Amino acid sequence: MEHLVVHGGHRLDGSVQVGGAKNAILPLLPAALMAKGKAIIRNVPRLTDVETMMELLRSLGCTAEWEGEHRLAVERQDDAAFEAPLELVRKMRASIWVLAPLLATRGQAVVPLPGGCVIGDRPVDMHIKGLCAMGAEIEITGGNLTAIAQNGLHGAEIYLGGHFGSSVGATVQVMLAGVLAKGKTILHSAACEPEISDLANCLNLMGAKILGAGSPRLEIEGVEELNAVDYYVIPDRIEAATLLMAGAITDGEVEVTDVRPDHLSAVLSSLRQANVFVEVNERSIRVRNNGPLKSIDVTTHQYPGFPTDAQAQLMALLTNAEGYSIISEQIFPDRFRHIGELNRLGANIRKATNHAIVRGRQTLTGARVEATDLRASAALILAGLVAEGETEVEQLEHLDRGYDRLEDKLRALGAVLERVA
Ligand code: EPZ
Repeated sequence: MEHLVVHGGHRLDGSVQVGGAKNAILPLLPAALMAKGKAIIRNVPRLTDVETMMELLRSLGCTAEWEGEHRLAVERQDDAAFEAPLELVRKMRASIWVLAPLLATRGQAVVPLPGGCVIGDRPVDMHIKGLCAMGAEIEITGGNLTAIAQNGLHGAEIYLGGHFGSSVGATVQVMLAGVLAKGKTILHSAACEPEISDLANCLNLMGAKILGAGSPRLEIEGVEELNAVDYYVIPDRIEAATLLMAGAITDGEVEVTDVRPDHLSAVLSSLRQANVFVEVNERSIRVRNNGPLKSIDVTTHQYPGFPTDAQAQLMALLTNAEGYSIISEQIFPDRFRHIGELNRLGANIRKATNHAIVRGRQTLTGARVEATDLRASAALILAGLVAEGETEVEQLEHLDRGYDRLEDKLRALGAVLERVA
């Protein structure tokens, strides 16, 4: 098994380019199942999640190839297959986004239930609610979602607010179902994440008619067909947040380029509150040490609130702040598996229901730690950058799902770390 050996104590300085957004690309790829012609997607990072989605599309009658370092070509060839392979869906829950395109183009779909993961049990009830409102009949048998829409899908007025508020996944699912449905779909309590807006922008270029993306109310007028386009996806705001926090935790000066600062307002606000100097330019952000880090209280929310995907990284940063910080997780209340591993490095963090109390100014010392999920991996690497001695981060398959050569980017900024087989 590969692991990362991080040598602590090296300040990060310099400028690094951020890659394309994983969570914008993963909803975009299933849309190719509904388009005519060859789709080109640019600014695509080399992630195992992207490879998994490409494999899934190939299993459903598409060609999907890399045409350049960060450029994909996807083309639908035939509409025969309608069953998503279990081994692929198990690897990545975003696979469930093939459900709507399969129903829209083939009238049926069999997609294994994605199941839970360490950050939560990940239900899909809102996906099912939306598709059933649009005419699908869905059964859960043998761990599979078996869906039929014999007369195709039709528009509907749907409220998609759940126990934890809006759902990115369910919003994507209904958008993909609505673009070829008969009539108009109105979606209330839609997710407002930038990745939703990016999907809507791309679908509209393909010929869809979607209004209101980025707001809680979406209107989708169904059309007859979609044509594949050449599309450049938005930067990854979570990778940007991770790299900025890597600079801040080492008291360094780090600039991230090719970013959308407007996608990071909550993150930048929290960094400033923690006494990090933050300078924002049109497509770049720079952080610099501004004296000791201060403890802060942060609650994760749907966009534009503080993103749950940056929560673990912030927790690592706040182990170095003066005083006690409180991080409240409102989206995935169980998303705290990184607490135990950070405490193995000498942090002093206590979980109380969906709150983490982080005692600051703890001296961290290197140890062998296990990454439990994608963002926990990043948090442990950040902590390793300042822990005394060596920190060995295991289970790198989680990291590689969502970060494109993060260790190379950190090394270019002055970090000393290596991947060891
Ligand atoms: C997407 O997951 C992202 N994944 C997650 O990023 C991100 O953390 C999450 O949105 C929130 O922003 C991708 O885009 C591939 P949700 P998703 O549906 O769609 C509950 C990462 O690290 N819910 O917005 O699964 C759910 O349990 C990953 O890149 C239901 O109850 O998230 C959660 O509590 C991790 N029923 C809340 O809603 C449903 O049918 C928000 O989940 C669907 C969701």
